[in-house]
Amino acid sequence: MSMNRRAFLKTTGAGLMAAAFPLSLVKLAFGGEGSIPDFTFGYISDAHIQQIKGTRFVRNWDMGLIRAVREANLLTPRPDFFMFGGDLAQLGKKEELDHGLEIMSNLRGKVRYVMGEHDYYLDLGKYWQEKLGPPYYSFDHKGVHFVVLNSILTYDKWTYETWPTPMDRMLAMARLDNPKGSPFMVGDEQIAWLKKDLAKINGNTPVVVFSHSPIQKIFKPWNFWTQDAEKVQALLKPFEKATVIYGHVHQIQYNQIDNITFQAVMATAWPWPYPETYSQLANAFPKITVPMNRADPFFERDATGWQFVDVKSGRSAMHYQLPDNQNRTVMFDAATGKPQDVKYQDDSMRIPPQTHF
Ligand SMILES: [Fe+2]
Ligand SMILES: [Fe+2]
Repeated sequence: MSMNRRAFLKTTGAGLMAAAFPLSLVKLAFGGEGSIPDFTFGYISDAHIQQIKGTRFVRNWDMGLIRAVREANLLTPRPDFFMFGGDLAQLGKKEELDHGLEIMSNLRGKVRYVMGEHDYYLDLGKYWQEKLGPPYYSFDHKGVHFVVLNSILTYDKWTYETWPTPMDRMLAMARLDNPKGSPFMVGDEQIAWLKKDLAKINGNTPVVVFSHSPIQKIFKPWNFWTQDAEKVQALLKPFEKATVIYGHVHQIQYNQIDNITFQAVMATAWPWPYPETYSQLANAFPKITVPMNRADPFFERDATGWQFVDVKSGRSAMHYQLPDNQNRTVMFDAATGKPQDVKYQDDSMRIPPQTHF
């Protein structure tokens, strides 16, 4: 089915059309398998809205989010819903969350939120929850079971006993390369909840998990890492189609571990570089099983943007909308059993730096 779709894209040039008109969803003539209809949702993540002083905020981060919201509002037909993937704020301040939510309020459609560590470690998620509700929950949509996890928790001792002030704790978790940080985890309470939640779901129902940190272990020094990832993966094992979509890494990233497809979303704020584990060193863990098509980490707006997701027969095709590069699609290939880039980029695909705003 997927091969047919790819062949169809090639022969009809629909892929080119999609690239030329990124704001309209090109609906292909493929219905869902059985009772699972196809649908689309939008995904915006890692805005890192940062207060300078009073009503002054870092303009670049504001503009990244504003642009994503504006472009998402132009999508037609409308996506069924939107997700925000966490790190709405930079240092968890009320002012930052309020300002970020004000920008997000312009987004037309239902929006659900994932908690990021930047939203959490100042007041331990108090204000975020006041505005947005519980940090983990599940919902069903058109035959797909969706789960939102709060994956950025860590050891109680680190959280409650290590830091003289809440801001010290926040700053310790806010950097990429910080030896004073602590590995992220979902925690036993949520894992027990997830076990119960998934017990009701039939094994051939597609399951999509949204988390902020990757539910796989990529690179511990940068906290591209969830300490108890295997416990969550084990609960997803019985499902024929399981996908984990995560933010936090600020880059296009995809992987397949057993039956679980992993897809990262981009940030609207800035791209992170690639961890050294991608070099496939013998001691790197895990081995990335799918060769990845990389954006340029030395190009400051490459790999920033937002994305929409086509759920086709319960599999997610991720459409990355990059301001400074050609749009990219990563979709599950049934023939290889892995997510793959539809079109690899080379230098000719680069859009020269330009003024966006
Ligand atoms: Fe982030
Ligand atoms: Fe994060």
